[in-house]
Amino acid sequence: MKLLICGGMGFIGSTFIRNHQKKNPNDQIINIDSLTTGSNKKNLEELDKTNYQFIQDDIKNFQTVEKFASDVDIIVNFAAETHVDRSISNPKQFLETNILGTHSLLESAKKHEKLFIHISTDELYGDAENQGSFTEKSILNPSNPYSATKAAADHLVGAFAKTYGTKCIITRCTNNFGPYQFPEKLIPKTIIRAQKDLKVPLYGDGNQIRSWIYALDHVEAIESLITNGQHGQIYNITAWNEISNKTIVEKILSIMGKSNDLIEYVGDRPGHDKRYSIDSSKIQNELGWKPQFDFNDALKETVSWYIENNAWWEPLADEKTLHPQPWTLKW
Ligand SMILES: NC(=O)c1ccc[n+]([C@@H]2O[C@H](COP(=O)([O-])OP(=O)(O)OC[C@H]3O[C@@H](n4cnc5c(N)ncnc54)[C@H](O)[C@@H]3O)[C@@H](O)[C@H]2O)c1
Repeated sequence: MKLLICGGMGFIGSTFIRNHQKKNPNDQIINIDSLTTGSNKKNLEELDKTNYQFIQDDIKNFQTVEKFASDVDIIVNFAAETHVDRSISNPKQFLETNILGTHSLLESAKKHEKLFIHISTDELYGDAENQGSFTEKSILNPSNPYSATKAAADHLVGAFAKTYGTKCIITRCTNNFGPYQFPEKLIPKTIIRAQKDLKVPLYGDGNQIRSWIYALDHVEAIESLITNGQHGQIYNITAWNEISNKTIVEKILSIMGKSNDLIEYVGDRPGHDKRYSIDSSKIQNELGWKPQFDFNDALKETVSWYIENNAWWEPLADEKTLHPQPWTLKW
C-alpha cells in the first residue's frame, strides 16, 4: 500500500508512521508536513527511510498535495493546529490550516478518487458536563476556536462525501498521551516542569474531566479503519479513562516522587469545557477494535520516556513551557 500522511512530523502522525512501518515495512509512506507548531523532525529520525519520502509543505498548497495524492491508495490527515490556548490568542492560523487545509486535501481526494481519512477530536461535541457520553450522532457544540475549526472541517468532509461521493472516514478521538508529544501539552508540560521543580499550573479548580488514550491505541484504531472502516462513516475513539486534570497531574507527581505542593491553581481558560466524554461502542462493535494499553502503566512509561529523553524536548521547551508563570497568556 502507498499512503499519503499529512502532519506526520507531529505527535500522533509520527506515532502512526513509526507503528505502521514496523508492521508493514514494504508499504510506501509520503509525509507532507509544514514543520510548524507541534512538529519535530527528531520524531522520525530513527525511521527506515527506504520506503519513505518527506515533503516539507503546507497542506493548503493544492498543487503539491494533489501531485502526491494522484499516486497513493489512501490519504490520512493528521495535520492541524492543535493547541487550544494558541487558538484563543490567535484563531486565524487555525482557520487556515484546519479548514482551508482540509479543503485542499478534500479537493485532492475528490480529483483522484482516493479514500480520505480525517483525524478529528471529541472536543467538537463540546461540554458533556450534565450529559452521558456523546455518540457519533450527537450534535456538534464546540466551545473554543480550535474545536470550532475542527467541527467546520468535519462538516466539510461530510459535505464532500454527500455532494461529490468522495470516499471519507472521520475519526473523533479523546485526549492522547505518550512519547513525542509537544512539551506545551498538559502531560509533557507537567513532567518537564516537575523534573525542574517548577510550579505546575492547573487551570481553574483542576476538576475538568478529560478522557485519555495512549497514542498507540489511537493509531491502531486508525489502522483498523483503513482496513475495515465503512466509507462515509464517523467513528468515536476512546479508551474510557475519564479523569480530572487535577488527578492526572497528581498521578504524575506521585510517579516522579514529587509533592502536590508543586501544583499552582491559575485563572481558568476562557470557554473551558468541564467534561469531555464520548462513546466508542460503534468502532468496538463493528470492527472489534479495543484499547490494549493499561492507563496507569502507559502513564508510567510516558513519564520515564520524558525523563530519559531530555535531548528530545530540551530544544522545544521554550519560555512558555519552562517559565515559572507560563499561564500569563494574553487572551
Ligand atoms: N493530541 C490529542 O490529544 C488529539 C486528540 C484527538 C484528536 N487529535 C487530532 O489529531 C491530529 C494530530 O494531533 P497531534 O496532537 O499529533 O498534533 P501536533 O500539533 O503534534 O501535530 C500536528 C502536525 O501538523 C503539522 N501541520 C500543522 N499545520 C500544517 C499545515 N498547514 N500543513 C502541513 N502540516 C501542518 C505540524 O507541523 C505538526 O507536525 C489533529 O488533527 C488533532 O486535532 C489530537
